[in-house]
Amino acid sequence: MSLFDGISCGYEALNRAGIKVNAYYASEINATSIAISKYNHPDIIQIGDVRDIDISKLPQIDILIGGSPCQNFSFSGTGKGAVTIEGIEVTTLEQYLELKNQGFEFEGYSYLFWEYVRILQEVQPKYFLLENVKMAEKWRNIITKTLGYNPILINSNLLSAQNRPRLYWSNITDIKQPKDKGIYIKDVLQDTYSPKEMLSEKILNRFQPLKSTYCVGTTKPKFRTIGQRDYVFGDDNKMGCLVATDYKQPKQVLHNGVLRKISPIEAERFQTLEDDYTKYGLFENEVKEVSNTKRFEAIGNGWTVDIIAHILKHIK
Ligand SMILES: C[S@@+](CC[C@H](N)C(=O)[O-])C[C@H]1O[C@@H](n2cnc3c(N)ncnc32)[C@H](O)[C@@H]1O
Repeated sequence: MSLFDGISCGYEALNRAGIKVNAYYASEINATSIAISKYNHPDIIQIGDVRDIDISKLPQIDILIGGSPCQNFSFSGTGKGAVTIEGIEVTTLEQYLELKNQGFEFEGYSYLFWEYVRILQEVQPKYFLLENVKMAEKWRNIITKTLGYNPILINSNLLSAQNRPRLYWSNITDIKQPKDKGIYIKDVLQDTYSPKEMLSEKILNRFQPLKSTYCVGTTKPKFRTIGQRDYVFGDDNKMGCLVATDYKQPKQVLHNGVLRKISPIEAERFQTLEDDYTKYGLFENEVKEVSNTKRFEAIGNGWTVDIIAHILKHIK
């Protein structure tokens, strides 16, 4: 069972780890993500909103996986953690269920972590895996205490060309750091690019070299102090972390003397997805092309498949 399943990177990872899947239950509410999953894996059983899952209607689940929404936990988000609209912090499952029963509303989506915990306790799977971003000590400790296992921090850059440090909580024992494959941006860029990847004259004219180990420059407008989004990555570097909001402005690279945006296929490669995994979706029995903006959003939300496969391979 995969909660917050997105585009089913978990299914891809199980396949890559060589774990035979008899049935894969996915909880997701985003129409485009569900359509992409259905197109790639018609056998996935969609079970809808995580808050409505009734375990009594399902068979025994062996593995529970999920990356609950991170915005309110992340340093780049609100950092408030799981809270009600009124600001009441939710620090135990009992408290969450009580507040839910009483009809309280919650801020953002990170409180859904407690739905993961509810289902974990009800399902009692052999194995579980929870992924999330690096967060303040306080919330990290609450999650660790609730799940009963310390997280392991793994950066996707060990198996891909993307910096993506993420925390993984699991009862799969002795998870080791993956061996660094030494993959860099230039290893995953396409030789050709389409007009969609070109930048406007206005942005090109703003390019300024930067002395940084992280990137080679910026296209930041003078009046703005925003960082990451305007970075220009050199092709000997690792890509910055892909995020859902990249749909507003995809990451920028300098490759063979050309400054341009990355393509959706390149974004997929930074997540070690198959090329064009997100190109089509099955929307109400009709196959349709997915727009680039929706592809970037879904990919930025997703998992680095090879990292999840690496973790799952530790199942004895
Ligand atoms: C961080 S993303 C996880 C992506 C996923 N790991 C993947 O492989 O693509 C969190 C996901 O939770 C989904 N989500 C938000 N609210 C939900 C709900 N109530 N029930 C189920 N999924 C939900 C979002 O649509 C989003 O796709």
